[in-house]
Amino acid sequence: MDPLIEAPEALEAPTTSSAVCEAVQAGLNATPKTLPAWLFYDEHGSQLFERITELPEYYLTRTERHLFVEMAPTLAEHVGTPLTVMELGAGTASKTGVLLTALAQHQTPLLYQPIDVSASATEEAANVLTRLVPQLQVQPQIANYITERYDVERPANARVLALYIGSSIGNFSPAEQQNILRNLRSHLEPRDTLLLGLDLAPGDAKSHDALQKAYDDDAGVTAAFNKNVLTRLNREIDADFKLDQFAHRACWNASESRIEMHLESLVSQTVNVCGDAITLSKGETIHTENSYKFTDAAINTLLQDSGFSMNRTLTDENGWYAVVMADAV
Ligand code: TRP
Repeated sequence: MDPLIEAPEALEAPTTSSAVCEAVQAGLNATPKTLPAWLFYDEHGSQLFERITELPEYYLTRTERHLFVEMAPTLAEHVGTPLTVMELGAGTASKTGVLLTALAQHQTPLLYQPIDVSASATEEAANVLTRLVPQLQVQPQIANYITERYDVERPANARVLALYIGSSIGNFSPAEQQNILRNLRSHLEPRDTLLLGLDLAPGDAKSHDALQKAYDDDAGVTAAFNKNVLTRLNREIDADFKLDQFAHRACWNASESRIEMHLESLVSQTVNVCGDAITLSKGETIHTENSYKFTDAAINTLLQDSGFSMNRTLTDENGWYAVVMADAV
């Protein structure tokens, strides 16, 4: 099976504005209406997302960082040496430093291979991390790990610790989740380790309300983040969205086990997008993103179907977030 996902256009930013027009028109002419998620992360969007990760309601980032602090010493023991660390979607790798600091105490030098689409984020990560952990050798790859091939280097006899954290996997459909992990598994050997960070489904431990608030905060940062997609289209292509005629909506879809982000049209209106008149009725929504939430059983199935077996799971005291250590089998 080809590990690369078909129809990658939805997962990758086009490079010409006519291709952006085409992708946006296709989404807005579909039923229900959608916009591609890569639109979120322009410069302002990336700043807004940084602010989301610091919100009191957005427990994910903070909780994962605490779990890393707690597990770092055990992780070093579990993976052993010699070791190399690779990371999918590393971004600015702001939480990875906690793990790399602990791992570098057992192995010098430590080769760290971050893979990310953003050259600027990766450069920042390399600068910050080498200052924090001088024993680190950073070897970045600029690639979209969904649509492009990437390499994992294995220095003589080293085991690979693969990081896929931040519940990033939750922004992909179940079929894509499996493809991402299967592709990763194809670069690994038995006894290599995967460290996967996942947000847990609401239930006895986590209320729907707590989850909902993480995606619809009181200060309105998440709303601004969602609506920034429209601002971006107004600026970058020929579109005339009126921002005050749309509202941010986050809703839990229980049957799909995901939080859905939408932009709801507050009036019946027509929007022009690259010469195409798009009509929206009052209350109609544009679906902008999904964030899947996982049960223990779903995590087990996903790992097994992708060639991993769960070794141990660490959750916070509330039982809201999980960091899973899995062995390649
Ligand atoms: N990876 C983040 C998550 O799913 C992305 C995210 C947080 C997000 N808040 C959002 C995406 C609001 C769209 C809208 O938790």
